[in-house]
Amino acid sequence: MAGVVLFTLYLYTLTQYALAAETNCSRIFHSAVISNGKLYIDGGEMHTRWPNETITTKPIDDLETIDLTKSWVNSDTDLYTYIPKPLANNTAIYLDEGAAWSDGDNLFFYGGYVSGVNGPSVPPLGTWKYNIASNEWTHNGFSGAALVRLCQGGAVQSSSKAYYLGGSLNPGGNPSFAGTAGADVYMDPGLITLDMDKQEWTNASTADMNEWGTIGDGYTSLLESAGEEGAIVAFGGYKYSVGQTLSYLAYRQNETIHRV
Ligand SMILES: *[C@@H]1O[C@H](CO)[C@@H](O)[C@H](O)[C@H]1NC(C)=O
Ligand SMILES: *[C@@H]1O[C@H](CO)[C@@H](O)[C@H](O)[C@H]1NC(C)=O
Ligand SMILES: *[C@@H]1O[C@H](CO)[C@@H](O)[C@H](O)[C@H]1NC(C)=O
Ligand SMILES: *[C@@H]1O[C@H](CO)[C@@H](O)[C@H](O)[C@H]1NC(C)=O
Ligand SMILES: *[C@@H]1O[C@H](CO)[C@@H](O)[C@H](O)[C@H]1NC(C)=O
Repeated sequence: MAGVVLFTLYLYTLTQYALAAETNCSRIFHSAVISNGKLYIDGGEMHTRWPNETITTKPIDDLETIDLTKSWVNSDTDLYTYIPKPLANNTAIYLDEGAAWSDGDNLFFYGGYVSGVNGPSVPPLGTWKYNIASNEWTHNGFSGAALVRLCQGGAVQSSSKAYYLGGSLNPGGNPSFAGTAGADVYMDPGLITLDMDKQEWTNASTADMNEWGTIGDGYTSLLESAGEEGAIVAFGGYKYSVGQTLSYLAYRQNETIHRV
């Protein structure tokens, strides 16, 4: 019996290898949001293993979905639906470590930086909106726009408000200083909010956020039952004092001083 199971497994594995010339093994730096039973995955980089055992890295320039209303396993060959993006003239863009939210009809994308592995050129600042039903992208019609493009901040939402807490300012996300000699990565303390109905940003950052009021790559959640509009809680991730450069220290996994 065990032999039959093993043999079946062996055949299954062989078939998998024969069917897929390549295997996507891991994806990093993407953003994700659930809307009406679908998981949308945007941006980031895919690591792909080829039959010759080499692993390549590539930024992902389409929008990918998984239908959460059916049961699935991650080896299903039809697990993902790939939605191509109109990339000409930055009609749609793709970045690493951005944020995604949904109001039920549209997806909203803010933040990020261009991939260092054959990424695109740094797109203009903006908020991108994808209308799910019409499959259309736009970045027009937003007011009170963010002054800078942040990355690694905490993104949470209620049904109509999208929140972005802290994060860092990376030259690779900001056309005005991308490529400038000496331009570094800084923490940006504060909270910005997008009203998804009005398509209007507000910036609630105040001068009294202390020098350690920063967070990057942490866990953020919205407790909607607390108070009138809920309370944002955040923990984990890393922090640096305001004004101190990061110089990509965050890439050094052995660096523990700034973890919280
Ligand atoms: C791997 O990911 C890329 C980019 O999303 C996709 O085009 C390709 O079909 C995937 N390959 C497999 C075997 O799933
Ligand atoms: C392995 O295969 C990939 C995909 O065909 C190719 O891009 C890469 O150059 C190959 N690497 C080597 C070392 O042959
Ligand atoms: C991109 O913009 C140029 C200049 O405005 C225009 O001629 C071209 O048709 C646009 N391309 C697309 C695909 O929208
Ligand atoms: C929010 O305002 C503060 C203070 O003016 C500024 O430092 C910060 O960069 C602004 N945030 C964004 C995302 O524009
Ligand atoms: C962490 O790694 C860096 C780069 O590999 C090395 O230079 C540094 O000495 C290491 N630090 C510690 C505390 O191990």
